[in-house]
Amino acid sequence: MTDQTSPETLKSAARALLKEAALVAGEWVAAGPDAVEVEDPAEETILGRIPKLSGDQVSQAIAAAARAFPDWSGRKGKARGEFLHRWAELVARNEQGLAALISLENGKPYPEALGEVRYANSFISWFAGMAERLDGRTIDSANAQDLILAFREPVGPVAAITPWNFPAAMITRKAAAAFCAGCTVVLKPASATPFTGIALAALALEAGLPEGAFSVVTGAQDVVGGALTGSAAIRKLSFTGSTEVGRKLAAQCAPSLKRLSMELGGAAPLIVFDDADLDVAVEGTVAGKFRAGGQTCVCPNRVYVQKGLRDAFLEKLTAKVAALKVGKPFEDGVAIGPLIDAKGVAKVEDHVARTVAAGGTVLTGGARHERGGRFFQPTVIAGGDDALFCDEETFGPLVPVFAFDSEDEVLERANASDYGLAAFLFTDDLNRALRVGRRLEAGIVGVNSGLISNAANPFGGVKQSGFGREGSTYGIEDYLQVKSLTLALR
Ligand code: SIN
Repeated sequence: MTDQTSPETLKSAARALLKEAALVAGEWVAAGPDAVEVEDPAEETILGRIPKLSGDQVSQAIAAAARAFPDWSGRKGKARGEFLHRWAELVARNEQGLAALISLENGKPYPEALGEVRYANSFISWFAGMAERLDGRTIDSANAQDLILAFREPVGPVAAITPWNFPAAMITRKAAAAFCAGCTVVLKPASATPFTGIALAALALEAGLPEGAFSVVTGAQDVVGGALTGSAAIRKLSFTGSTEVGRKLAAQCAPSLKRLSMELGGAAPLIVFDDADLDVAVEGTVAGKFRAGGQTCVCPNRVYVQKGLRDAFLEKLTAKVAALKVGKPFEDGVAIGPLIDAKGVAKVEDHVARTVAAGGTVLTGGARHERGGRFFQPTVIAGGDDALFCDEETFGPLVPVFAFDSEDEVLERANASDYGLAAFLFTDDLNRALRVGRRLEAGIVGVNSGLISNAANPFGGVKQSGFGREGSTYGIEDYLQVKSLTLALR
C-alpha cells in the first residue's frame, strides 16, 4: 500500500462509487434480469452487473448527445475549462475509491491503480487548461479584397469505445479532449471493467456537465457498437483496442464517413545497445514491461540486446523479474496482479511454449503461478524466434530477449512488424538515440525510459497500430474541424 488506508476501507470507498447502471440521456438505467456480469479477476467472483442496453436505448443516448451539442459547443472555452477543473477536483477527491474500483474490476495492484487514477486525471487537467486556447487563424488571400478567417470547431457528438486495461485513463484521455473541444460524448466502456467509467461519469455530472452531454452505454458489443457506428448523428469514433476490432469498427463507420481515432495493438521493440547504462536499461525494461502485468499496448513485446551487453543484461533482468511479487491487488508489495481472463493466461502460456519450441531458454518463470486462477509467473526467456513477437502481442508478463550485432540489423528486426505503436531504445550516445529513434517505425519512441505515457506526450501509432493522436496539444485536433469564412472586404 502507498498509504495507511486499510484494504477494507478502500474497498468500501470503491463500493460507494460502484453503480450498477448505465447513464442514458441523463437518466440512470439500472441493470435488469438479463444484465451482464462483471467479475473480480483476482477473486473470480461476481463484482456486479451492468445493463444490456437495446439498440433503441443506445439511440436515445445518441439523440441526447445531439440535443446537448449546440448548448455545450456554444459555451465559452473558459466555461468548458471550468467544468473540467471541477471534474478533476472531484476525481482527485475520490481517488482512493476510484483506484480501489480499478483494482476490483481489473485486478491491478492498488498502488498502480492509484497511479492510473492520477494519470487519468492529468488528461482532465491538461484539457482544462487548453479549453480557453482553441484559437483559429486569419489567412491572407491572393485575392486583394479577401480576408479568410479559419475557425476550429468541434466535430459534433463523439462515440468513445474504451478497453479494460486502463479503466479510467483511456476514458479521460478521450472524454476530456472531447469536452474541451465542445463535443458531447457517448461512451461504451469495456464490459470487463465498466464501473470505473460509470463512476467517472457520475462525477462529471456532479461537476456540472449538462444532461445528455455524457452518456455511458453498456451491453453487447455488436448491439452497442453497431448503434454507435451506424448513427449519422455521431460524427466521430475514438477507439482503443485491438487492430482486429478497430478494422471492423472503421468499416461500420464508413457509410456515415465519421472521423476516426484508432489506438490499436502494438508489438513494441525495446533495443539495448552496448553503450547503454545497464541499470537504466534493466530498470526501464521492467518498468515498461510489467506495468499492468504486461497488459498494455505500449509495453515492450520483444527485447533486443547487443551481444556485448547480453549476458550482463540477462543476469540483472532475471534477478529483478524473479523478485517481482505476484498477488491480489490489495496485498502488500504486489507488483503483478491476475491477468484479466483465462484466455489471457492461455495466450501467455502459448507464447512461452512456442518460444521454447523455437529454441528459447526459460530463465525465470515460464508457467502459471502457484496461486492458480489467472495468475502467471513473471517470465524471462532468452532466444527463440522473434517473429512471433513481431506479429502478436503477448499481453502478459513475459519478456523474450534476443541478441543482435549491428544497428542496421536491429533496426530491420525492430521494424519487421505490421504494428508501429511504441518503441524503446537504450543508449548513452545522443547521435545514435536520434538516428535510431528517427528510423524506428513507431508513433511513440522512448529513449532510456520504458515509461513514456504522459498527458503532454502525443500518443498514437502508425501502420496497423492505427492513427490519430491522443493527449498533448496534438490530441485536441482529433476533436476539431476547420471552418473557413471568406470576407470580401470593400
Ligand atoms: C494502452 O495500453 O493502450 C495505453 C497505455 C498508456 O496510456 O500508457
